[in-house]
Amino acid sequence: MKITVVGTGYVGLVTGTCFAETGNEVTCVDIDVNKVAKLSSGQITIYEPGLEKLFERNLKEDRLHFTTSLEEGIKDAAVIFLALPTPPGADGAADLSFVLNVADQLGKLITDYKVIVDKSTVPVGTAAKVTAAIARNAKVPFDVVSNPEFLREGVAVDDFMKPDRVVIGTESERARKIMGELFAPFVRQGNPVIYMDENSAELTKYAANSFLATKISFMNEIAILCEKLGADVDMVRKGIGSDDRIGKRFLFPGIGYGGSCFPKDVQALVRSAEEVAYDFKILNAVMDVNEDQKLFLLPKIKAYFNGDLKGKHFALWGLAFKPNTDDIREAPALYMIEALLNEGATVTVFDPEAMNNVKQQIGDKITYADHQYTCLDNADALLIATEWSVFRTPDFSKISAALKNKAIFDGRNLFEVSRMKELGYHYESVGRTPVLS
Ligand code: UDX
Repeated sequence: MKITVVGTGYVGLVTGTCFAETGNEVTCVDIDVNKVAKLSSGQITIYEPGLEKLFERNLKEDRLHFTTSLEEGIKDAAVIFLALPTPPGADGAADLSFVLNVADQLGKLITDYKVIVDKSTVPVGTAAKVTAAIARNAKVPFDVVSNPEFLREGVAVDDFMKPDRVVIGTESERARKIMGELFAPFVRQGNPVIYMDENSAELTKYAANSFLATKISFMNEIAILCEKLGADVDMVRKGIGSDDRIGKRFLFPGIGYGGSCFPKDVQALVRSAEEVAYDFKILNAVMDVNEDQKLFLLPKIKAYFNGDLKGKHFALWGLAFKPNTDDIREAPALYMIEALLNEGATVTVFDPEAMNNVKQQIGDKITYADHQYTCLDNADALLIATEWSVFRTPDFSKISAALKNKAIFDGRNLFEVSRMKELGYHYESVGRTPVLS
């Protein structure tokens, strides 16, 4: 099938590449001339494990093309995906101007029947707005479909190739058939394609992300309670997670969720609810808990240093909002850094992928180490903000040799408490018994 993907950001590039990989001919359109030049010459513009290989192969085999011209890009396409940014506006509601602007242009450009698919995360009612924007100028029939993505950064290729489900929101039988054919190779293992109306599909995306964020904030509050009541959150997590109705995943407490989706989507759903005069009480609490959680370690660190962090120097492992990505949007590490600097401390950081992004954002306010161990030199304590695998089984003799105090504050529960006790560390984590020195 001939497909167009408008927008070559994270979702667009993964979508375009994965559709090319299943034999479709894909053209990706972007207004950014430099990006299109880079991508056309074989340079990938995002970090996503496994994507580069597919990208290179499909580019070489001429199934993947890039252009800045929407008109050229949609020529002969059966399906046009819109994977455009929907940043939060000043009031927290998603800004639809990119999506509606392209919809308006499409109305003028299409010359035969097209399926136009909203891939961006958009509030309920957007498909209707996109339909209206296209219809203003269109002289040929078309259908608008809401097809939310459920890609996790770091495992997006796998999520795309083997989705738990595909949600297709349209009441048009013609569009359902085309979308069903397009997605058939991805659900061969029997996972469902769920057809529904546009509004339900749009709400499904927000409900899924908000529910997962709720699970995390819930566990973060359970972790707080565990510390106060002398329970162990790892035990409670296992105890509840083995109940199928609850499920094992997304129950890991930490220093809060970040990234480009959860914070934005939870906020947007609260705003959508407000627009129809509903106060979404649970989600307001989910956001509050997450705000507090980002600085969960700070009082513990302060207590260890008798309330004064002025002149103290910290090593911080992990900057990305989660492992296997260089994405630092809403990363808890950045909030921690800011709080430590405000307290008069200095910070040296190490992250396997996200250092350049942090350098660009906050520059020389902090120091950047070449290696996870040189990061520790002369530090008063080690702080951990992201659970990269390379941090999981470190050489503890190197850590204790470099640090001024044998103190680790771990926001991701990487180490066994009993082991840290044996090794003689002051070790504080999230929701587990602290080892105090
Ligand atoms: C998320 C959704 O999972 C995906 O379906 C959607 O399309 C986009 O948003 P992503 O933001 O890439 O994906 O990351 P995800 O792996 O879901 O993690 C989000 C945040 O939650 C991270 O900051 C992570 O550290 C945190 N998290 C996750 C926890 O704190 N505890 C958990 O148990 C799981």
